[in-house]
Amino acid sequence: MAKLAINGGEKANPQGHIKYPQISQADRDAVNRVLDREVFWGLNGPEITGLEKEWAEFVGSKYALTCNSGTAGLHMGLAAVGIKPGDEVITSSLTFVASALCALQHNAIPVFCDVDPRTFNMDVKKLESKITEKTKAIIPVDLHGMPCDYDEINALAKKYNLKVIADACQSHGATYKGRNVGTLADLSVFSLNGLKNLECGDGGLVNTDNLEYYEKANQLRVFGEKLKAGVPRDYNSYEIGWCYRMLELPAAYARSKLTHLADDNAIRQANAARLTAGLQGMPGLITPYVPEDRTSVYHYYRIRFDPKALGINMSPNEFRARIQKALIAEGCEAKRWQTRPVQLQGLFKDKTGYGYGCPWTCPYGSGKPVNYGPEDYEVTQQILEDSIVFYDPIYPPNGAEVVDRYIAAFKKIWENMDEVLDFPIDMNDPTINSL
Ligand SMILES: Cc1ncc(COP(=O)(O)O)c(C=O)c1O
Repeated sequence: MAKLAINGGEKANPQGHIKYPQISQADRDAVNRVLDREVFWGLNGPEITGLEKEWAEFVGSKYALTCNSGTAGLHMGLAAVGIKPGDEVITSSLTFVASALCALQHNAIPVFCDVDPRTFNMDVKKLESKITEKTKAIIPVDLHGMPCDYDEINALAKKYNLKVIADACQSHGATYKGRNVGTLADLSVFSLNGLKNLECGDGGLVNTDNLEYYEKANQLRVFGEKLKAGVPRDYNSYEIGWCYRMLELPAAYARSKLTHLADDNAIRQANAARLTAGLQGMPGLITPYVPEDRTSVYHYYRIRFDPKALGINMSPNEFRARIQKALIAEGCEAKRWQTRPVQLQGLFKDKTGYGYGCPWTCPYGSGKPVNYGPEDYEVTQQILEDSIVFYDPIYPPNGAEVVDRYIAAFKKIWENMDEVLDFPIDMNDPTINSL
């Protein structure tokens, strides 16, 4: 039996993997095109309008707006559907903080729904109980690139007259019942930050079929002004707005990346399928679940560990940390994405907000104290403790050889489980606590 690398043995993956993103000549040419043109900003710039047109076509929605981050796009979405101070907005407990931050940014109050232990998305069985007369919107999050249960969510939204803003920041190109993400909600928001399946360093995209929402979102994007292509600017702000516009350089780069997003997603899917197949039958390993009616674009590949299935009497948190350490020593990437449920972050614990507890203390709210109790994050907490994510090895240009070395690393670790349970471990070690 091979000795584990953590105990001085040879690494199962000495070659490692290639980092995402790789910059092609076409990407460089796109950026140079902007430099040569010497037009760097402006909402009617050719790259920005080109990206909006191409992204609307890719998704199959009537309208697309660029902006400078997914966080900005979510805020634009809430403004567009008319969220007001004190309104409640339900989102997932297992997400990036921006899914909830956007509600606070619009003086609304985030409410959290726990997730399903298999899909990691908002658990629709728990969603209805979170709806009150103050609820005005739901922000489902397509975690790790897999669409939420949109039919059920939209049905509840219809029943209670709520708006749905899809946090599709991780799910560019995924499908649900044959329909593209970006067409499944009142508005859908994508992030283009440097980690995303479609990226340009920092940026965002908002899709909708609704002209009124499109115009409102645009208004928030540019200082509350009503700006239209070809119409002279009258410098009149009608509402509170921000400066959320994108620039020409990232737009040009994103357009270049968009030309191969579908191919890149296919590689992620093939790599994920190979990894899942290679790990099949290994006890204590729970590979990602994708319901048959949808596709995932595997922004992350999350794998859960169950020490009990191996007859090991250890907390899932410590077991996960040990496997993670052992994988890293073998030359593999093994990361955590988020280390706590959103509502356990300082912002939501302190509830200072803008000062004086706003917006939680907003007089337009329900008047009841807002408590973020464990019933809304129990499953999220378990998932965060007992799982890790893979990122780079799933991304192109990595392929079968890299994935096979990851499978070999797992097999080696599983064959030497007694060693895994034995080495000293510091649970605060930063290498096992962040992305
Ligand atoms: C689920 C989710 N929502 C929102 C965001 C915010 O996107 P951005 O970083 O572009 O503001 C991210 C980005 O990490 C995300 O993963």
